Parts: sequence; C-alpha cells; structure tokens
Amino acid sequence: MHAKINDIQLAYTDEGNGPALVLIHGFPLCRTMWQPQVVALSAAGFRVVAPDLRGFGESEAPRSGYSMDRFADDIVELMTYLGIGRAVVGGMSMGGYVLLNLLERHSRRVAGAAFLLTRCNADDAAGKARRAELAQLVRQGKRSAVEGAFADILFAPSTSAEQPQLVDTVRSWMRKTSDAGLIGALEAMAARPDYCDRLGEFSTPALVMGGAEDRIVPQETIAPFAAALPNSSSCIIPKAGHMANLEQPQAFNTCLMDFMRLCSQAFDAPRNDS
Ligand code: MLT
Repeated sequence: MHAKINDIQLAYTDEGNGPALVLIHGFPLCRTMWQPQVVALSAAGFRVVAPDLRGFGESEAPRSGYSMDRFADDIVELMTYLGIGRAVVGGMSMGGYVLLNLLERHSRRVAGAAFLLTRCNADDAAGKARRAELAQLVRQGKRSAVEGAFADILFAPSTSAEQPQLVDTVRSWMRKTSDAGLIGALEAMAARPDYCDRLGEFSTPALVMGGAEDRIVPQETIAPFAAALPNSSSCIIPKAGHMANLEQPQAFNTCLMDFMRLCSQAFDAPRNDS
C-alpha cells in the first residue's frame, strides 16, 4: 500500500487488528525484513504497520531533505493517516535512532518503545568519517561499497554458514535502496545526537533486545541501555546476529509479543497528539 505522507509516496504494510505495532527497518534495508513479525503478530491479535522509510524499498526517494526528524515525522503522519493515535514502536538499528527521535519529539504517540538491535550513542569522529566516505562512494557510482560494508557483518557466523539463501535475500533488499536514500540516511545517521545520557527522561515502557552474536551492536551494550531507561526490560536472542528477527524469528517474536501484551493497557490512554 502507498499513501501521500509529507509530500512523498510512502509504501507500507498494514496487517491485523488490535493494539498497533509500528516497525521501523534498519539500514540499508526495507519493510520486507519484518515479514515474520507481520505474520506472527497480526495472527496474535495485533495491528502491525511497517513502512519503507523515504528513500528505501518502494517509497519515493526525494533527492534531498533526509534527517532523523524527517523520518520520525513521516512515521507520525503515517500513523495519523491510518487513524492510529498511539502505537508501540519497534525500531531496528537505524530504526531505533528514529525511535529515539520519536520519544524526544512525539512521545505521546508512543505507547511502548522496542529498541531492537540498536544503540543510544551518536557516531564518534571515525564513524562519521566512515559514513561520509560511503556517501561519497555512492555519489561516485560505487554503491556496492555500502553492501560490502554491511552485508558480511549482519549475521551470526552460524547463520551465514547454515542459511546462505537468507544472506542472499537480504543482500537483494540492499540493492533496492535508492542512491538518494543511501546518501540521505548515511548523512542523517552521522548527524544524529547522542541520547545515552538522556534515557532517564523516557518513562515510556521500553524493551531493549539484542542478538548474542551481533557484531554491529554487541550484546554487552544491551544491559546498560536497558538499565538507563526507567521502565524497561531486555532480552538477548541466542544464536542471532544483527538480523535476529530473521535469524531466530520464533525467539524474537516471543520477546516482542510479551512486550506488546505488557503495553496493552497503555492503549487506553487518551489519544493526544504532540
Ligand atoms: C542498521 O542496521 O540500521 C545500521 O547498522 C545502523 C548503523 O549503521 O548505525
């Protein structure tokens, strides 16, 4: 499905009925990554909405204007378009950076915050320089550098060995991301602020989920992230890397579903926009 959101065509999936869960994909991926969660959670009595962020998947890719504010505003406008006042929002990696922005700027729309394989810190100088280098390579027509930088470290070693088709499938999603989306999101991620010292301000019920073999967000970072949030729980998915939702969908879905049930009472709160 598509909707005109903030002047662009945004593609999204919307399945099921019940308390709403909005899932935000990581970089350089698209909403297709959420298929196992869309199937399981919609069957379990939840409404699951998964957009392609601007520049990604089947959404329109404007030439410029990418930022975490813009990504977050698109999510809020899509929720309004779909008649969703409040939702549990789950953000995977880059999607988690968008979720932090939502908590800062639109917290009344967030009934629960699921931080999935993500982190609260900003990029350090080396990280920013690496993003600028990758963006420049895309401008020079060498976009395969982005796939090269991410594809090999996304999975647990056992997944790469045992599920080569899954690795190929995820690589094929990366190739669908527009150049403008790659460059815009790399710049938006490099510019994002650090939230680690501000997590105590976010009293929304929260979940922090990690993968035991994640090489992008090490599992050791999950407990401190959760401990800094006033109202949170955490889980670590065994035998999973950065794509834990695809590598170990059952364990991932169980943890996410438990959190959805925990948050259900928050949906009775007034639907005030922020
Ligand atoms: C992602 O999976 O979204 C990326 O690894 C995030 C990042 O590059 O910081």
